[in-house]
Amino acid sequence: MAEEKALLSVLRGEARKIPPLWLMRQAGRYLPEYRDVRATTTSFLEFCYSPKKAAEVTLQPIRRFHFDAAILFSDILVVPDAMGQRVSFESGAGPRLEPIETPQQVERLGDFNIEHLAPVFETIELVKSALASDVAFIGFCGAPFTVASYMIAGQGTPDQAPARLFAYRFPDAFGKLIDCVVDASIAYLSRQIDAGVEVVQIFDSWAGVLPANEFMRWSAEPVRRIVAGVKARHPQTPIIAFVREADAHLPMLTQTIGADAYGIDTALDPVWAVAQTASDIVLQGNLDPLALVAGGDALDREVDSILGAFKGRPHIFNLGHGILQQTPIENVERLVARVRRAGG
Ligand code: CP3
Repeated sequence: MAEEKALLSVLRGEARKIPPLWLMRQAGRYLPEYRDVRATTTSFLEFCYSPKKAAEVTLQPIRRFHFDAAILFSDILVVPDAMGQRVSFESGAGPRLEPIETPQQVERLGDFNIEHLAPVFETIELVKSALASDVAFIGFCGAPFTVASYMIAGQGTPDQAPARLFAYRFPDAFGKLIDCVVDASIAYLSRQIDAGVEVVQIFDSWAGVLPANEFMRWSAEPVRRIVAGVKARHPQTPIIAFVREADAHLPMLTQTIGADAYGIDTALDPVWAVAQTASDIVLQGNLDPLALVAGGDALDREVDSILGAFKGRPHIFNLGHGILQQTPIENVERLVARVRRAGG
């Protein structure tokens, strides 16, 4: 029988001498081969909805760096797009949506039309048929608070103030929006799994700005419901929850939301995270993306310190947030070599 994929064995709780390695946003603009394919389509979402191209850029970082996992190339904002809140990306300016300013606009949102995302499922099938047998395949969605923060503001904001204000002023309408995203995310992740992904990650990039009560209500609880909903349909599929800047909430999250692994961001001390969570909790992270830009001794030192902190624990090596566009390729090669000699 073929040996189990390294990522899947760690997600079952096995501590490995050499942790499996992948990088958030590993397909992207730091790769010249990504820029070449990207240049063939003007609209970013149209690019996400082009199965051959999306499959190709999903596979590029695997060919180059032999990571232990491929992550589907798509975006978290395809979910509002499939609810009829059309999304566009302006080059250099990030995502743009028609903002939601009133409870009535929440009422008017369309049903989640999952067939709008058929090209994503086709991408998954293409990747699946081309992926080497030792590489795991990760699907994903955004967490409800993070997705809702773009749906309310209509764009990225530094502190998610529009969504936070809307939640204080119109908690019922905000709750309804969150519920819509929870239901859509359960359906969407389930279809990704049906199409061939083996693991799913939920990205909560922006919940870290919330005060404790709001964090429980709008981040932890909706993420718990997504985990429960996906597990009810696909009990064998591991789920990674990445709640960025969750900081002191991490121990509570590992006891309440029921995921199989927890991503930790750059600023969290891994020694603290290890000490504050039960020894069978699987953690993922948390190299500073800027250390990967810097390279050299600074990179080696940070890599060794993370490996040391997680020694003996089930750990997935990753960044603490997405890879930066200015990252030199040779630094990624250096990282891979350093992590993989950890056992020797
Ligand atoms: O990890 C991967 O390689 C898979 C692909 C992936 C993308 N976005 C591709 C992308 C994933 C997992 C995401 C998640 C995502 N998208 C998040 C959560 C993770 C995080 O980084 O916090 C968020 C908040 C988004 C929303 C989003 N998409 C923004 C704010 C932007 C613009 C910022 C930017 O970097 O330009 C995007 C666009 C985007 N998504 C790009 C890529 C490769 C860049 C656009 C391009 O190549 O033209």
